[in-house]
Amino acid sequence: MGNIIIIGFMGTGKTTISKKLSSRYKMEIIDTDRMIVQREGLSISEIFEKYGEEYFRTLETNLLIELQSRHNTVISCGGGTPLREQNVAIMKKCGKVVLLDATPAMVLERVKNSDSRPLLRGRKNLEGITELMEQRMPRYKAAADIVIQTDHKTVGAICEEIMKKI
Ligand code: S3P
Repeated sequence: MGNIIIIGFMGTGKTTISKKLSSRYKMEIIDTDRMIVQREGLSISEIFEKYGEEYFRTLETNLLIELQSRHNTVISCGGGTPLREQNVAIMKKCGKVVLLDATPAMVLERVKNSDSRPLLRGRKNLEGITELMEQRMPRYKAAADIVIQTDHKTVGAICEEIMKKI
């Protein structure tokens, strides 16, 4: 089995879906945000505050380069990973890229009680989320082999749809 790379806007369920996919289909799992936090010994917000967004993006790129040699792994990416063309090229070489899509209302519902996402600071409302999502969507779509709409679907149903489409 090749790799499955999960991308999508913040709050589209990448981590949850990746966990379920990996356990149900006996695959390894890597969450890039989690791995970066572990290695740096800092939270995502702290990394952004201390070193800035570009530094974080470079950590993402370096990690993806390292992950190219993996097999049978679900790689759950941060919401901004497909914004760098270099990252998209690596993802496409690595395996099937699956975009999880959700409406801004559903994203807002999922992120409203969390403060861990620096890029949503001051933007945690429908207008802010819609604007950032629309700005990023062309990049997400260009990176994706498969697009899955997730609103009102169970985690199990989403995983089955991913496997069917792959
Ligand atoms: C980001 C998404 C976050 C995290 C960082 C930047 C983004 O990951 O990588 O806060 O630019 O969309 P999640 O999508 O897992 O929240």
